[in-house]
Amino acid sequence: MAEIRLENLGHSYDGGTTYALNPLNLTWKDGNAIALLGPSGCGKTTLLNIISGLITPSSGRVYFDGVDVTESDTARRNVAQVFQFPVLYDTMTVSQNLAFPLKNRGISKDEISKRIAEVAELLDLTKYLDERPLRLRSDLQQLVSLGRGLVRKDVPAILFDEPLTVIDQNFKWTLRGRLKELHRVTKHTLVYVTHDQTEALTFADEVVVLNEGSVVQSGSSADLFLQPEHEFVGFFIGSPGMNFLNASITNGLVVLNNQEIGSAKSFGGQNLDSGSVRIGVRPEFLTISNSNGLPVQIDRVENRGGYQLAHFELAGSKTIAKLSNETKVASGQSANLVFDQERTYLFRESQLCGRLVSKVS
Ligand SMILES: Nc1ncnc2c1ncn2[C@@H]1O[C@H](COP(=O)(O)OP(=O)(O)OP(=O)(O)O)[C@@H](O)[C@H]1O
Ligand SMILES: [Mg+2]
Repeated sequence: MAEIRLENLGHSYDGGTTYALNPLNLTWKDGNAIALLGPSGCGKTTLLNIISGLITPSSGRVYFDGVDVTESDTARRNVAQVFQFPVLYDTMTVSQNLAFPLKNRGISKDEISKRIAEVAELLDLTKYLDERPLRLRSDLQQLVSLGRGLVRKDVPAILFDEPLTVIDQNFKWTLRGRLKELHRVTKHTLVYVTHDQTEALTFADEVVVLNEGSVVQSGSSADLFLQPEHEFVGFFIGSPGMNFLNASITNGLVVLNNQEIGSAKSFGGQNLDSGSVRIGVRPEFLTISNSNGLPVQIDRVENRGGYQLAHFELAGSKTIAKLSNETKVASGQSANLVFDQERTYLFRESQLCGRLVSKVS
């Protein structure tokens, strides 16, 4: 397995008119599980195909363990790749399909049989080993495809491109758990493409969030949830996503709806004495109080079983607070909104620039 380093890596399919992937720099630790997360068309597959060698990037370099492999073809890079849709040989049985990536690699027959048995067990495919793959249901076909990626042990990385898309919801949970367990044991470097945040957050050590061909943030699930560095991450991750409210700063005080709600603390040295700003706060970090807080009128309360969502309008924006079931709240009532200041962030031009702190007099 290998550390993967991407240096100024970018790609344009049309000779430089538009960029599917804007130049990026990333280093992924050997043995980590990395998720590439983002909406359709953001460049996930492009990035994966550059790593496997199916696409030669327009600019930048790819390194495996410090060795520049940018010019190496897929065969020489030797990574295992599982595509979004199954790629299988119907002239062979499931078992032979699984054995195929191991043939001609000097691996003994016994070892091949052992690995096929292990992978088949992991993916619940044991009873289909003698079948022709294309006669199986499409989700089973995808499992065989997944198995072909997992049988190999000598690879620098295993790349998955949305491998669970066609798998039914229940088995997806099981499979995700098994893949995670497998990763814990084998310590493969795994790069996993998905547009499903739950999949990314539960599976990966590191999540790279892409939007419109750019990396907007890379970090652990907790980093992305607790401190989004870009409005897109706040909005895209979380259910429901982060609330954004237009506010202003006067003499270092943040004013929302004509009320001072705290002081602005700058993160990156940016001057936050005055001017407009966007407040970003997750529904989880808003509570309501009977005594103090910012007055709001609750429009609607939505019971979600384990918690409730209070919907209201604030500073012209639809806003949501995620409240415990113990909180007494009803549609149409007035309430006082309280911000968890440590988790109430300030954004300018969509970038994180600071957070709220208690008012200093
Ligand atoms: N072979 C190609 N030729 C030209 N443009 C392409 C090609 N493949 C992808 N693109 C464009 O590059 C951009 C990124 O595409 P890519 O397939 O990498 O996105 P993605 O994040 O994998 O999307 P999805 O979630 O839909 O699979 C898109 O605008 C897409 O239209
Ligand atoms: Mg794709």
